[in-house]
Amino acid sequence: MDRPILFINACVRGESRTKRLAEKLLEKLNRPVEEVRLEDISFPVANEDFLGMRDSLVSEGSFDNPVFDLARQFSEAETIVIAAPYWDLSFPAALKQYFEQVNVVGITFRYTEEGIPVGLCKADRIFYVSTAGGIYVPTEFGFGYVKALAQGYYGIGDVRLIYRDNSGRGRRNNRRHGSGLIFHRGRRRTE
Ligand SMILES: Cc1cc2nc3c(=O)[nH]c(=O)nc-3n(C[C@H](O)[C@H](O)[C@H](O)COP(=O)(O)O)c2cc1C
Repeated sequence: MDRPILFINACVRGESRTKRLAEKLLEKLNRPVEEVRLEDISFPVANEDFLGMRDSLVSEGSFDNPVFDLARQFSEAETIVIAAPYWDLSFPAALKQYFEQVNVVGITFRYTEEGIPVGLCKADRIFYVSTAGGIYVPTEFGFGYVKALAQGYYGIGDVRLIYRDNSGRGRRNNRRHGSGLIFHRGRRRTE
């Protein structure tokens, strides 16, 4: 049986354009979906106690602790779809909080003795789905961050952007300004 797609949903609006775009993609992928709705998660406050507790669990190798549920789910996923609107020049803070839970040395990546990250995630690809209200939306502030994480830490080389802005000004404009609907594939360099 097909393994479900991990759908990380950072959309909050009932009429979310980003979610609609993501749903079109999920329909095309035509596989069961396991949704993580970030709005429904009470992320822990990353204070000193929490960080100390998490570090101890990592040093003991207690990766089955529920604190690491999100990280384990992420590292086991086969295909990942992230839906995140462009908010205040980046993505919603809940998505950063999510990554803070997922970035666990020993689950989603490890370091070599030289301090180089090596990915431990099983996913073959990540789709990053986003929409924006304006037309000046540098990819570094959203997709670029996720692509760097995926390729540099998680070991997921195939990272694609599906994006729509509000310009509605056609393909030529889309190419010039990086707006409209684009499909961008980032592959990890193999050296
Ligand atoms: C809190 C908030 C912040 C936003 N910040 C930006 C922004 O910095 N730049 C931009 O182009 N659009 C911005 N927008 C517009 C949204 O990116 C745009 O309407 C998007 O399509 C909303 O996605 P959604 O329908 O999935 O919620 C913002 C919208 C909201 C609600």
